Amino acid sequence: MDFSFIFDWYYIETLLEGLVLTLVLALLAVVLGSLFGFLITLMRISNNKVLNFIGKVYVEIIRGTPLLVQVLLIYSFFKIPVTIIFGIDMSSFIPGMLALLINSSAYVSEIFRGGVLSVDKGQSEAALSLGMKDGLVMRKIILPQAIKNIIPSLGNEFITMIKETSIFMYLGVAELMYSAQIIKSETYRTKEVYIVVAVLYLVLTLSTSKLMTIIERKLRKHDEK
Ligand code: ARG
Repeated sequence: MDFSFIFDWYYIETLLEGLVLTLVLALLAVVLGSLFGFLITLMRISNNKVLNFIGKVYVEIIRGTPLLVQVLLIYSFFKIPVTIIFGIDMSSFIPGMLALLINSSAYVSEIFRGGVLSVDKGQSEAALSLGMKDGLVMRKIILPQAIKNIIPSLGNEFITMIKETSIFMYLGVAELMYSAQIIKSETYRTKEVYIVVAVLYLVLTLSTSKLMTIIERKLRKHDEK
Protein backbone atom coordinates (compact mmCIF):
# COMPACT_ATOMS: atom_id res chain seq x y z
CA MET A 1 0.00 0.00 0.00
CA ASP A 2 1.22 3.44 -0.87
CA PHE A 3 -0.52 6.38 0.76
CA SER A 4 2.09 8.93 -0.28
CA PHE A 5 -0.51 10.89 -2.27
CA ILE A 6 -1.98 12.23 0.96
CA PHE A 7 1.19 14.26 1.44
CA ASP A 8 0.80 15.94 -1.93
CA TRP A 9 -0.76 19.37 -1.46
CA TYR A 10 -2.66 19.12 -4.74
CA TYR A 11 -4.45 15.94 -3.61
CA ILE A 12 -5.05 17.30 -0.12
CA GLU A 13 -6.75 20.28 -1.74
CA THR A 14 -8.80 18.04 -4.02
CA LEU A 15 -9.99 16.00 -1.04
CA LEU A 16 -10.75 19.06 1.07
CA GLU A 17 -12.74 20.66 -1.71
CA GLY A 18 -14.70 17.44 -2.09
CA LEU A 19 -15.27 17.30 1.66
CA VAL A 20 -16.58 20.86 1.81
CA LEU A 21 -18.89 20.35 -1.15
CA THR A 22 -20.20 17.11 0.37
CA LEU A 23 -21.07 18.97 3.57
CA VAL A 24 -22.69 21.85 1.70
CA LEU A 25 -24.78 19.46 -0.40
CA ALA A 26 -25.96 17.48 2.63
CA LEU A 27 -26.75 20.62 4.59
CA LEU A 28 -28.68 22.21 1.73
CA ALA A 29 -30.60 18.99 1.13
CA VAL A 30 -31.69 18.70 4.76
CA VAL A 31 -32.49 22.41 5.26
CA LEU A 32 -34.42 22.83 2.01
CA GLY A 33 -35.86 19.33 2.37
CA SER A 34 -37.12 20.27 5.84
CA LEU A 35 -38.90 23.38 4.57
CA PHE A 36 -40.57 21.42 1.82
CA GLY A 37 -41.07 18.40 4.06
CA PHE A 38 -42.93 20.49 6.61
CA LEU A 39 -45.51 21.39 3.96
CA ILE A 40 -45.96 17.69 3.24
CA THR A 41 -46.43 17.05 6.97
CA LEU A 42 -49.12 19.73 7.14
CA MET A 43 -50.88 18.05 4.22
CA ARG A 44 -50.62 14.67 5.90
CA ILE A 45 -52.03 15.77 9.23
CA SER A 46 -54.74 18.00 7.77
CA ASN A 47 -58.37 16.95 7.79
CA ASN A 48 -58.64 17.56 4.06
CA LYS A 49 -58.80 14.10 2.47
CA VAL A 50 -57.42 15.21 -0.90
CA LEU A 51 -54.36 16.96 0.58
CA ASN A 52 -53.87 14.01 2.85
CA PHE A 53 -53.91 11.61 -0.06
CA ILE A 54 -51.51 13.71 -2.19
CA GLY A 55 -49.05 13.90 0.71
CA LYS A 56 -49.25 10.18 1.25
CA VAL A 57 -48.72 9.32 -2.42
CA TYR A 58 -45.77 11.73 -2.59
CA VAL A 59 -44.03 10.09 0.36
CA GLU A 60 -44.71 6.57 -0.94
CA ILE A 61 -43.34 7.35 -4.41
CA ILE A 62 -40.19 9.03 -3.14
CA ARG A 63 -39.48 6.39 -0.51
CA GLY A 64 -40.35 3.58 -2.87
CA THR A 65 -37.87 4.45 -5.62
CA PRO A 66 -34.07 4.55 -5.40
CA LEU A 67 -32.42 7.93 -4.98
CA LEU A 68 -30.10 7.12 -7.87
CA VAL A 69 -33.06 6.69 -10.21
CA GLN A 70 -34.59 9.98 -8.96
CA VAL A 71 -31.33 11.85 -9.50
CA LEU A 72 -30.82 10.52 -13.03
CA LEU A 73 -34.49 11.03 -13.91
CA ILE A 74 -34.60 14.66 -12.78
CA TYR A 75 -31.23 15.29 -14.41
CA SER A 76 -32.53 13.93 -17.71
CA PHE A 77 -35.42 16.42 -17.65
CA PHE A 78 -33.18 19.43 -17.07
CA LYS A 79 -31.22 20.93 -19.91
CA ILE A 80 -29.41 23.78 -18.20
CA PRO A 81 -26.45 25.19 -20.15
CA VAL A 82 -23.08 24.87 -18.43
CA THR A 83 -22.84 27.74 -15.94
CA ILE A 84 -20.00 27.83 -13.44
CA ILE A 85 -20.69 29.56 -10.10
CA PHE A 86 -18.10 29.27 -7.28
CA GLY A 87 -16.33 26.70 -9.42
CA ILE A 88 -19.41 24.46 -9.48
CA ASP A 89 -21.19 23.56 -12.70
CA MET A 90 -24.84 24.49 -12.11
CA SER A 91 -26.06 22.37 -15.03
CA SER A 92 -25.56 19.26 -12.90
CA PHE A 93 -25.60 20.80 -9.42
CA ILE A 94 -29.16 22.21 -9.68
CA PRO A 95 -30.95 19.05 -10.88
CA GLY A 96 -28.88 16.94 -8.48
CA MET A 97 -29.70 19.21 -5.56
CA LEU A 98 -33.36 19.24 -6.51
CA ALA A 99 -33.49 15.44 -6.51
CA LEU A 100 -31.67 15.25 -3.19
CA LEU A 101 -33.91 17.77 -1.46
CA ILE A 102 -37.05 16.15 -2.85
CA ASN A 103 -35.81 12.81 -1.58
CA SER A 104 -34.97 14.24 1.83
CA SER A 105 -38.29 16.09 2.07
CA ALA A 106 -40.23 12.81 2.00
CA TYR A 107 -38.17 11.32 4.81
CA VAL A 108 -38.18 14.55 6.83
CA SER A 109 -41.95 14.92 6.46
CA GLU A 110 -42.30 11.53 8.16
CA ILE A 111 -39.91 12.62 10.91
CA PHE A 112 -42.03 15.73 11.51
CA ARG A 113 -45.23 13.73 11.38
CA GLY A 114 -43.88 11.26 13.93
CA GLY A 115 -42.84 14.17 16.15
CA VAL A 116 -46.24 15.86 15.93
CA LEU A 117 -48.10 12.60 16.59
CA SER A 118 -45.92 11.94 19.63
CA VAL A 119 -47.53 14.91 21.38
CA ASP A 120 -50.61 13.80 23.27
CA LYS A 121 -53.86 14.73 21.55
CA GLY A 122 -55.22 16.16 24.78
CA GLN A 123 -52.69 18.98 24.48
CA SER A 124 -54.09 20.36 21.24
CA GLU A 125 -57.67 19.64 22.34
CA ALA A 126 -57.09 21.69 25.50
CA ALA A 127 -55.55 24.54 23.51
CA LEU A 128 -58.35 24.49 20.94
CA SER A 129 -60.97 24.49 23.68
CA LEU A 130 -59.34 27.65 25.04
CA GLY A 131 -60.04 29.24 21.69
CA MET A 132 -56.55 29.05 20.18
CA LYS A 133 -56.41 28.89 16.39
CA ASP A 134 -54.90 25.86 14.57
CA GLY A 135 -51.69 27.66 13.55
CA LEU A 136 -51.13 28.97 17.06
CA VAL A 137 -51.67 25.53 18.58
CA MET A 138 -49.08 24.15 16.17
CA ARG A 139 -46.53 26.86 16.94
CA LYS A 140 -47.01 27.28 20.67
CA ILE A 141 -48.15 23.88 21.89
CA ILE A 142 -47.24 21.07 19.51
CA LEU A 143 -43.92 22.08 17.90
CA PRO A 144 -42.08 22.99 21.13
CA GLN A 145 -42.84 19.50 22.47
CA ALA A 146 -42.39 17.66 19.17
CA ILE A 147 -38.95 19.18 18.59
CA LYS A 148 -37.36 16.87 21.18
CA ASN A 149 -38.25 13.84 19.08
CA ILE A 150 -37.54 15.60 15.81
CA ILE A 151 -33.99 16.87 16.41
CA PRO A 152 -32.28 13.46 16.87
CA SER A 153 -33.97 12.07 13.76
CA LEU A 154 -33.01 15.15 11.75
CA GLY A 155 -29.42 14.49 12.83
CA ASN A 156 -29.72 10.97 11.45
CA GLU A 157 -31.14 12.35 8.23
CA PHE A 158 -28.16 14.67 7.91
CA ILE A 159 -25.80 11.71 8.37
CA THR A 160 -27.72 9.76 5.72
CA MET A 161 -27.50 12.73 3.35
CA ILE A 162 -23.74 13.05 3.86
CA LYS A 163 -23.40 9.49 2.62
CA GLU A 164 -26.01 9.79 -0.13
CA THR A 165 -24.30 12.83 -1.70
CA SER A 166 -21.81 10.33 -3.10
CA ILE A 167 -24.42 9.79 -5.80
CA PHE A 168 -23.45 13.21 -7.22
CA MET A 169 -20.35 11.54 -8.55
CA TYR A 170 -22.51 10.27 -11.41
CA LEU A 171 -23.34 13.86 -12.38
CA GLY A 172 -19.75 15.02 -12.23
CA VAL A 173 -20.31 17.29 -9.22
CA ALA A 174 -16.94 17.50 -7.45
CA GLU A 175 -17.96 16.14 -4.04
CA LEU A 176 -15.82 13.75 -2.04
CA MET A 177 -16.46 10.65 -4.15
CA TYR A 178 -15.73 12.60 -7.31
CA SER A 179 -12.44 13.79 -5.80
CA ALA A 180 -11.67 10.14 -5.18
CA GLN A 181 -12.18 9.35 -8.87
CA ILE A 182 -9.81 12.13 -9.89
CA ILE A 183 -7.09 11.03 -7.49
CA LYS A 184 -7.58 7.39 -8.42
CA SER A 185 -7.21 8.07 -12.13
CA GLU A 186 -4.04 10.07 -11.57
CA THR A 187 -2.27 7.89 -9.02
CA TYR A 188 -3.72 4.42 -9.75
CA ARG A 189 -3.85 3.92 -5.96
CA THR A 190 -7.39 2.54 -6.02
CA LYS A 191 -7.51 0.76 -2.66
CA GLU A 192 -5.69 3.51 -0.84
CA VAL A 193 -7.90 6.25 -2.28
CA TYR A 194 -11.09 4.46 -1.23
CA ILE A 195 -9.70 3.82 2.24
CA VAL A 196 -8.87 7.52 2.66
CA VAL A 197 -12.29 8.55 1.37
CA ALA A 198 -14.05 6.09 3.68
CA VAL A 199 -12.14 7.54 6.62
CA LEU A 200 -13.11 11.07 5.57
CA TYR A 201 -16.81 10.13 5.37
CA LEU A 202 -16.45 8.58 8.82
CA VAL A 203 -14.91 11.76 10.17
CA LEU A 204 -17.91 13.70 8.85
CA THR A 205 -20.55 11.30 10.14
CA LEU A 206 -18.92 10.68 13.52
CA SER A 207 -18.52 14.40 14.16
CA THR A 208 -22.16 14.94 13.26
CA SER A 209 -23.16 12.17 15.67
CA LYS A 210 -21.10 13.76 18.41
CA LEU A 211 -22.66 17.14 17.74
CA MET A 212 -26.14 15.62 17.89
CA THR A 213 -25.40 13.97 21.24
CA ILE A 214 -24.33 17.35 22.62
CA ILE A 215 -27.47 19.06 21.31
CA GLU A 216 -29.69 16.31 22.69
CA ARG A 217 -28.07 16.58 26.09
CA LYS A 218 -28.60 20.35 26.06
CA LEU A 219 -32.27 19.90 25.12
CA ARG A 220 -32.80 17.38 27.90
CA LYS A 221 -31.13 19.63 30.46
CA HIS A 222 -33.25 22.54 29.32
CA ASP A 223 -36.29 20.32 29.78
CA GLU A 224 -35.43 19.29 33.31
CA LYS A 225 -35.22 22.91 34.45
N1 ARG B 1 -30.06 4.86 -0.74
C1 ARG B 1 -31.45 4.78 -0.41
C2 ARG B 1 -32.30 5.03 -1.64
O1 ARG B 1 -31.78 5.11 -2.70
C3 ARG B 1 -31.77 5.63 0.76
C4 ARG B 1 -32.20 7.04 0.55
C5 ARG B 1 -32.42 7.65 1.89
N2 ARG B 1 -32.87 8.98 1.78
C6 ARG B 1 -33.11 9.79 2.83
N3 ARG B 1 -33.46 11.00 2.58
N4 ARG B 1 -32.99 9.36 4.07
O2 ARG B 1 -33.49 5.06 -1.61
